Amino acid sequence: MDITFKNDAQADAVAVMASEGGVLLAAGKALDEKTGGGITRAMKASRFTGGAGQVLEILAPANLESGRLLVIGVGAPDKADGLTVEKWAAQAVRRTITTGAESLALHAEGVGGVAGAEAAARAGVGAHLATYRFDRYKTKLKPDAKPSLKDVTVVTEGAAGAKGKYDPLTGVVEGVFFARDLVSEPPNVLHPPEFASRLKAMESLGLEVTVLDVAEMTKLGMGALLGVGQGSVRESRLVVMSWKGAKNKAAQPICFVGKGVTFDTGGISLKPGAGMDEMKGDMGGAAAVSGVMMALAKRKAKANVIGIVGLVENMPDGAAQRPGDIVTSMSGQTIEVLNTDAEGRLVLCDAIWYAQEKFNPTAIVDLATLTGAIIISLGHEHAGLFSNNDALAADLTAAGLAEGEAVWRLPLGPAYDKMIDTPNADIKNISGKPAAGSITAAQFLQRFVKDGVAWAHLDIAGTAWKPAPYEDPTSPAWATGFGVRILNRLVANRYEE
Ligand code: BES
Ligand code: MN
Ligand code: ZN
Repeated sequence: MDITFKNDAQADAVAVMASEGGVLLAAGKALDEKTGGGITRAMKASRFTGGAGQVLEILAPANLESGRLLVIGVGAPDKADGLTVEKWAAQAVRRTITTGAESLALHAEGVGGVAGAEAAARAGVGAHLATYRFDRYKTKLKPDAKPSLKDVTVVTEGAAGAKGKYDPLTGVVEGVFFARDLVSEPPNVLHPPEFASRLKAMESLGLEVTVLDVAEMTKLGMGALLGVGQGSVRESRLVVMSWKGAKNKAAQPICFVGKGVTFDTGGISLKPGAGMDEMKGDMGGAAAVSGVMMALAKRKAKANVIGIVGLVENMPDGAAQRPGDIVTSMSGQTIEVLNTDAEGRLVLCDAIWYAQEKFNPTAIVDLATLTGAIIISLGHEHAGLFSNNDALAADLTAAGLAEGEAVWRLPLGPAYDKMIDTPNADIKNISGKPAAGSITAAQFLQRFVKDGVAWAHLDIAGTAWKPAPYEDPTSPAWATGFGVRILNRLVANRYEE
C-alpha cells in the first residue's frame, strides 16, 4: 500500500476529524457544507459524540465524489497528541481496508499537542501500522476478505514537510512489522537456526551480523544458555547485530539484549497443555531487539547500538536438562536449575555477560517475555521495568509514554535478592516461593550486571502479544511488536548525536 502526502486528493473514501461534543475540525466543516449539512444531520441521527476512536460512517454522501465518508473522533482536544492522530488514521484504514474502496484520503489536522506537519506524519504512521496482517499461511482467503485499499493520501497543507517527518518513521514501522512477523511465525518454522538466518539477511541494510553456533558458545563457556537448548533437535544460536551510526565508530555502544525462546514447553518442568501454543511468542524480546536494529539501520540512526539475541528451544527430551542440574554460566557463577521452565533468565544471563565482556557498553536494556507474574501485576497495559539506574528508568518511562508502549517500574532490593540464594550453588533459578516472581527474576539478571553499567530489564510477557479483546487499530494482530518503538525513541532521545 502506498502512503503519500498531498495538498488535496480525490478518493473512494474520505476521513475527517471530530473532537468531543461532536465538533468538526476544519476539513469536516468544509465537507459538511458541501454535503448540505449532511454530517451534522448524520451526527444528530446517531450517538456519535467525537469520543476518541468513535466512528460515524456515511455512505453515498450528497455532492461528494467519495462514496464513503468517515467521521472519526479524537476526543478532548487538550488531551490529543501524536498517538491520538495515529489511532485516528489507523481506525480510518481499518474501516476501509476491505470495503472495496481502493483509495482513502485522510484529512489529518493539528489538534491538541500535535501541529500540522507532525500530525500529518503521525497519520501516515497510524495508517501504515493499521495495514499489518499475518496471513502468510491462509491459502484460501476469499477475494472479499483481501485488502482492497491501495492508496492512502494524507491531505495536508505542508505536504513536503510532512513527508520529511514521515520517511524516517516508516523505517520504524517496518521494524515493528518485522517483530510482529517473528512473534507470529509458527515454532516449527521459526526455530533458532531459521531465526538467525533471517537476522543474517539484515546485513543488506548495513548492519554487521554475527551468528555464534553451539561450538562457539561452548568455547565461551555459556553453560546456562546451552543447558536450555540441549533437549532440542534445533541447535541454539546467539546473534549479534551491530549498527555503528555514531561519528566515532569506536565510541562505547548501548546494548539491547533479547530473550529468544522460539518455543517454551517448560522443558522437563512441562507446562500444562492449554494455551501452550502461545509460547511460540516466547521470543518476543528477541523480536523487539531485531525490529529496533532494523529500524535504526533503515533510518540511519546516529548512534552505536549492539543488539544481541539468545535463540533456543526449550524442549523435554532424554537429553534435556533436569530440575536439580547445576550449570556454569559464562560469568563463572554456578546456577542450580530448580525449574526448567524458568529458562529465560538462563538464556539472558549468558547473553548479558557476553555483551559486557565483548562490547563494554555504557548501558544495557534487556527485553524478555520472562514471567507470567508480570501479567498478574500489570495485565496487558504496561511492561514491567526494573533498573539499577534512575535516569535510564526515567528515560525509558518517558519514551514508552511517547510511543504508546507504556512501562511501569517495580522495585529491586537485597531482601528480594536473598530469595535466590541456594546452599548448593551460587544462585538458583527460582525462589521457590509464590511471591514477587517478576522481581526475583529481575534480581537473577542483576547478578550478571557488572558494577557501573546502567541496566534496565523490561518484562514484556503481557505486552508482546495481546489476546482479544485488547486489540488496537494500530496493532490489529495478536503480536504487537512491543519494544521496537520504545527502544528506538530511547536511542533518539538519549544517545543520538
Ligand atoms: N515464557 C514464560 C513466561 C510467560 C508466561 C510469558 C506467560 C508469556 C506468557 C517463562 O519462561 C516461564 O515459564 N516463567 C515461569 C517462571 C516460574 C517457573 C518461576 C512462570 O512465569 O510461570
Ligand atoms: Mn518458561
Ligand atoms: Zn519462557
